[in-house]
Amino acid sequence: MKVLVTGGCGFLGSHACEYFINEGWQVVSYDNMTKHELDRTGFAVEDARDHNWDYLKSIGVQMVKADIRNKQELMDYTSGCDYIIHTAAQPAMTISWEDPELDITTNVLGTFNVLECARLLKIPVVSCATIHVYGNRINETLTEGPTRYQREPAGIDEGHQTLEGILTPLHASKFAGDVYVRTYINTYNLEAASFRLTGIYGTRQFGGEDHGWVANFAIRAITKRPITIFGTGKQVRDIVYATDVCRAFDAFYRTRKGGVYNIGGGIDTSLSLLECIDMLTDILGQRPEVRFAPDRHGDLRYFVCDIKKAKDSLGWSPQVMPKEGIKRLTDWIRDNIGIFKG
Ligand SMILES: NC(=O)c1ccc[n+]([C@@H]2O[C@H](COP(=O)([O-])OP(=O)(O)OC[C@H]3O[C@@H](n4cnc5c(N)ncnc54)[C@H](O)[C@@H]3O)[C@@H](O)[C@H]2O)c1
Repeated sequence: MKVLVTGGCGFLGSHACEYFINEGWQVVSYDNMTKHELDRTGFAVEDARDHNWDYLKSIGVQMVKADIRNKQELMDYTSGCDYIIHTAAQPAMTISWEDPELDITTNVLGTFNVLECARLLKIPVVSCATIHVYGNRINETLTEGPTRYQREPAGIDEGHQTLEGILTPLHASKFAGDVYVRTYINTYNLEAASFRLTGIYGTRQFGGEDHGWVANFAIRAITKRPITIFGTGKQVRDIVYATDVCRAFDAFYRTRKGGVYNIGGGIDTSLSLLECIDMLTDILGQRPEVRFAPDRHGDLRYFVCDIKKAKDSLGWSPQVMPKEGIKRLTDWIRDNIGIFKG
């Protein structure tokens, strides 16, 4: 069995590569090694993608440096594969408004190319969307508790209205990718799923301020840099550990029940930024320095997935709880502290 992972040297992609190698598959990582969203983290991440590249190479992954916007090259490498996991993306909201062309070409054209390869070569595909497809009008439905925003009902399912509220190019591009997956299912009977992912975290994540906040907080806490919280810090996500998402990729391959899925931890893994700081303080035995800055344009203050559909259709549910997952992340940062020295 052979799987091609687009964005294989990114955070989630590297976990997908590792997971499927461990399952005995042949794995191809297809990544253009961009460092756009890594550039502004404030810690040394020039080596970040290379770190993942070197690690994946050492465990037997076939490494390809190439771009999903190059359809012919993508076609050449997907040919002969049994599954495509599409994680390559421009994933950051800030970069989407600074460079909307990078955003649309990567997220829309790139996803279209992946779907075309899947259609022409008849390969099942799972594509990564985001809970930002729902927009941020959810902000207007919240109450404010002492450490977190709250909502009734807590969980939001796939039937929720999409693209409500203030939009950024990222909303448009990631939503377009999600719509294209549904379109290819309806029009071409493609075996495909779009995973609307909530906040993911785990090892090999080089969190910037605009993407990967759990890792950003953990790296800053360990390297004794101040953490910036934009807004009140009561923003909530049902964070999900990377290997749990990989189990969901696997579950879709086995069940082939296509469609859109909210993939998150559900209420049990929900955590606010302030609560995450408390958890890090517990794990590290020291409270990190925190600074507050104004809310960011387009920010979504709350998202907790209702994961009933993924449970019922894919037989999937998350296993790693935040305390355990954040401990694994902090251990990994300490073991690889050289990457973050800056
Ligand atoms: N990390 C999260 O919390 C989160 C939350 C919701 C959704 N997602 C989605 O999950 C997916 C993976 O996210 P991630 O956190 O692993 O991101 P990441 O930035 O760590 O990884 C993305 C990878 O894609 C590669 N890439 C970018 N443009 C490319 C191109 N044109 N051709 C080939 N490769 C390219 C990058 O080099 C990088 O290695 C994305 O689709 C993202 O939108 C992530």
